[in-house]
Amino acid sequence: MIAKSFTIDLSNRIAMPALGLGVFQSGPEETVAAVSTAIADGYRLIDTAAAYGNEAEVGEGIRASGIDRAEIFVTTKLKPDDYGFEEALRAFDRSLAALGFDTLDLYLLHWPLPKTFESTVASWKAAERLLSEGRVRAIGVCNFNPNHLDALIARADVVPVINQVELHPFLLQNDLRAANAKLGIVTQAWSPIGGVNRYWESGEDPLTHPVIVALAEKYGKSPAQVILRWHLDRGVSVIPKSVKPARIAENIDVFDFALATDDIEAVDALDQNKRGGPDPETRAAGPIKR
Ligand SMILES: NC(=O)c1ccc[n+]([C@@H]2O[C@H](COP(=O)([O-])OP(=O)(O)OC[C@H]3O[C@@H](n4cnc5c(N)ncnc54)[C@H](OP(=O)(O)O)[C@@H]3O)[C@@H](O)[C@H]2O)c1
Repeated sequence: MIAKSFTIDLSNRIAMPALGLGVFQSGPEETVAAVSTAIADGYRLIDTAAAYGNEAEVGEGIRASGIDRAEIFVTTKLKPDDYGFEEALRAFDRSLAALGFDTLDLYLLHWPLPKTFESTVASWKAAERLLSEGRVRAIGVCNFNPNHLDALIARADVVPVINQVELHPFLLQNDLRAANAKLGIVTQAWSPIGGVNRYWESGEDPLTHPVIVALAEKYGKSPAQVILRWHLDRGVSVIPKSVKPARIAENIDVFDFALATDDIEAVDALDQNKRGGPDPETRAAGPIKR
C-alpha cells in the first residue's frame, strides 16, 4: 500500500505527511489495531504523546503493520510534569524505549507553562540537544500562542517546525496561523473534526452543522471528509483520531476532491473563536483541568 497523503515540507526540509492518525484517548487495547489498520489504509503519520499512555502500543502497531519504520513519521510529546532540562532528556529516553525505536521523527512540547516559563525554555533546550545529537529529526511545540512563541524563540537556537493547536471550523485561530506562517512554522490541527466539542461536550458539533452537512451532500463526501479537506486546502496539517476501522478509512479518503474557494469561505464563516479545550494561557503542570 502506497501512502495516500501528500507531504508538507517542514522548515528543516523534512517532508511530513499532511494527514495522520491521532491516538489521544485510544485505549492501549485498541491502539495496536488502530495504528496497523491506519498504516494499511495509507497513513504514514502517527501522533501520540507520553501523556496518552499508549506509546508502547503505537510502536507495536507500527511493527505489526509490516511497513518499514523509516516510512512512518512518528510524533510524540513531552508532558508538562516532565519539564526541565534533565527531566526532559530522561522523559525522551522513556518515550523512545516505550515506542521501541532508536530515533524519533518529531518531538513536541505538549503545552507552554506561562506561569513557570523557565521550565518550558529548559525543556526546549533539551529538545535542541536531542536534535543536535540526531536522536530526533525535528522539534516543535503544541498550544503556543504568538506571545509564547516570541518568548521561546528569543531564548532559542532552533525555531519550532510545528505548532500543533486546537483548530476546527468553530476555532479558526487566524492570528495564530499567520504568526506561525511568518516564523516558517507549520500549523497542525488537533481536534480537526471538532472531537473536543463532542467528548467534552463543550460546544456545538461541527460534524452536524447544516453548512457542513450541505457541503458533504454537494461533494458526495461525509462531514468529516469535508472538514479535513478544508484544513488541507488551507495548508493545515491534520491528525484525526479514530479507533473504528470504517472511520479510519473514511478520514484518509480525502485526496480525490478539493473544495471550491467559496465553499472554503463558507466553512471559514463558521468561526466562533471558541475553544473546546483548555486555554494555554492558564495551563500549569499536572493533569488537564477542564
Ligand atoms: N497537542 C495537544 O494538546 C492535543 C490535544 C488533543 C488532541 N491532540 C491530538 O490530535 C488528535 C485528534 O484530536 P481529537 O482526538 O481531540 O479529535 P478529532 O480527531 O477531531 O475527533 C476524534 C473524535 O471523533 C470521532 N470520529 C473520528 N472520525 C470520525 C468520523 N469520520 N465521523 C464521526 N466521528 C468521528 C472519534 O471517535 P471514534 O474513535 O470512536 O471513531 C473521536 O471521538 C488526537 O488524537 C491527538 O493525537 C493533541
